[in-house]
Amino acid sequence: MVTKLAKADDNILGEAAELLKNGGIAAIPTETVYGLAANAYDVEAVRSVFRAKGRPQDNPLILHISSPEMLNDIAESVPPLAMTLAESFWAGPLTMIFRRKPHVPAETCGGLDTAAVRMPRHPFTLKLIERCGFPIAAPSANTSGLPSPTSAAHVYDDMNGKIPLIIDGGECRYGVESTVICFVNGDTVRILRPGAVTPEMLREYCHVEIDSGVLEKLAPDAKVLSPGMKYKHYSPAAEVYILKGDDGAAEAFLRTLDGGKPGFLGFGGETLPESVTRFPYGSTPEQQAENLFASLRSADAAGCTEVYVRMPETEGMGLAVYNRLLRAAGFRIIDAEGDGNALRG
Ligand code: TXA
Ligand code: MG
Repeated sequence: MVTKLAKADDNILGEAAELLKNGGIAAIPTETVYGLAANAYDVEAVRSVFRAKGRPQDNPLILHISSPEMLNDIAESVPPLAMTLAESFWAGPLTMIFRRKPHVPAETCGGLDTAAVRMPRHPFTLKLIERCGFPIAAPSANTSGLPSPTSAAHVYDDMNGKIPLIIDGGECRYGVESTVICFVNGDTVRILRPGAVTPEMLREYCHVEIDSGVLEKLAPDAKVLSPGMKYKHYSPAAEVYILKGDDGAAEAFLRTLDGGKPGFLGFGGETLPESVTRFPYGSTPEQQAENLFASLRSADAAGCTEVYVRMPETEGMGLAVYNRLLRAAGFRIIDAEGDGNALRG
């Protein structure tokens, strides 16, 4: 299959809408990461998405809508708190889980009786959903297990030859996927996946629980609320390690490395041995979120055998960065302040 790359403008809008209406799939830009889009109500189209990604069938997709009103077609009921959060955070990186109406295909929702819904903020994608008139199911547009794509070039690397169309809407603003929440009761939500809508932001409106799967390794047989949390994720070919400790400790650890081709994602002030290659990361959680997936991909492209990533803070958006990093690293943390070999997980 020939994969067409097109700029996200009005010229491609009609063609993309026709493609999706006819059961086709296409990669689309959002403000978080690129998505692989299909008509959420078309079971065959949804199957094509799972196939192109190599995604396990029981990992449900997020349904993307272009107005809060579209929620009424998907959700059995919408709690008042959900309306409040929609008013505050939509269009934007917040995904909410509802009991689904029977006509929403089980295949789209990984066999669950719930559906995850969000209204993305990218103007092209909002127009596309509106033009289609149905919700667009879209997982991140990467091959399952690899880092999520934050540019059209990343999508092309994974999907060339597998999908007919990639729409280039520029680099993603946030760089990590949306915050996923479910409702525990009328005034409490639980974060299943942290994102740019932070616990601190949600606490302005309700009580917030953080699911244990956000920062802890799940037992292989654990029953999970969000099936995506149990799979290996975001991992480049290189071995990823989280490096805990201050600048001095990180520098001292990197000097002990011998052989291989190490890559490093740091806060910026570190002095590196010549043998270590630096990739963009940053000193704020927002910068780190923006750069993390792209830099893990760059490290692979550069042939790095291992990548050491400074441990982010766990406040605000740092929680989202740390959650992705833990999975990319298979929960391996090197305590550079300790003996440098203390691996956890
Ligand atoms: O920012 C995003 O959310 C991006 C863009 C494209 O919108 N999409 C995305 O989709 O990250 P995906 O499929 O890579 O991740 C969806 C996550 C998975 O962890 C999945 O298990 C969870 O949401 N999820 C989806 N539906 C769910 C449901 N009904 N119940 C629990 N978790 C659900
Ligand atoms: Mg994903």
